[in-house]
Amino acid sequence: NCRIPFVVANWKINKLKGQVFDYLEKVNQQVPDSSVVETGIAAQDIFLADMVRETENSPIHVVAENVHWQDAGAYTGETSPRALADLGVTYVLIGHFERRKFFNETDATVNLKVMAALRNGLKPIVDIDEDMSVYTQSMEAQPAVAQVAAALAGVSVDQIRNVTIAYEPTWAIGSGEAASAQQAQKAAQLIRQTLAQLYSPSIAEKIRILYGGSVDINNAAQIMGQADIDGVLVGRAALDPEQFLSLVAIAQ
Ligand code: G3H
Repeated sequence: NCRIPFVVANWKINKLKGQVFDYLEKVNQQVPDSSVVETGIAAQDIFLADMVRETENSPIHVVAENVHWQDAGAYTGETSPRALADLGVTYVLIGHFERRKFFNETDATVNLKVMAALRNGLKPIVDIDEDMSVYTQSMEAQPAVAQVAAALAGVSVDQIRNVTIAYEPTWAIGSGEAASAQQAQKAAQLIRQTLAQLYSPSIAEKIRILYGGSVDINNAAQIMGQADIDGVLVGRAALDPEQFLSLVAIAQ
């Protein structure tokens, strides 16, 4: 296929300032060009400006972990998509499982945030956390399919090419128990079929689908070897710069 692999580290809220600089120093010049493998690191807002500056001469993309759905205004404590784009942030995670679970993120707010990101030139990485590995029946009945459709409601044919989907079964996140490569592939295939229905088969072929949930250097090759899986969204294993680089090497 024509999709460039994408490896995204999600630091969540685990790094301190000194660790951010150390990590970037270790990986900045070690990742391949974005035409071979795209790489991204998601971090807390407070580090994003430093990270944009530190990665200026590196192919690594800086990724926000969340964004507000309004461009500007009186929304104390939120982060403006316009300001993120202006800062030089490229991608933004939207609807991560932990946002949905702990911070009342809903399909409706996910969709508003996806639209806000796209409107401002940020590329959304949309998280789908419904467990797709359990379904075998009609697609229409599946909550997971509904979650994909809800997240993308109103996203145009022109905009969808800037969207990445990340499939993360809830039970695999931080549990040490990743989905099997077959389970992950089945889910990714279902998501691609959904995209084909929502847009067209040829458009669906161009959209990247990542897998996330206990990815590590031992299971990454099998998972990324699946036909419909175009990369990984990695929490714990990617806290370590060496392991992040190993994962990027596996994606090549
Ligand atoms: O965004 C990353 C996922 O939540 C996966 O985290 O690799 O620690 O399971 P994990």
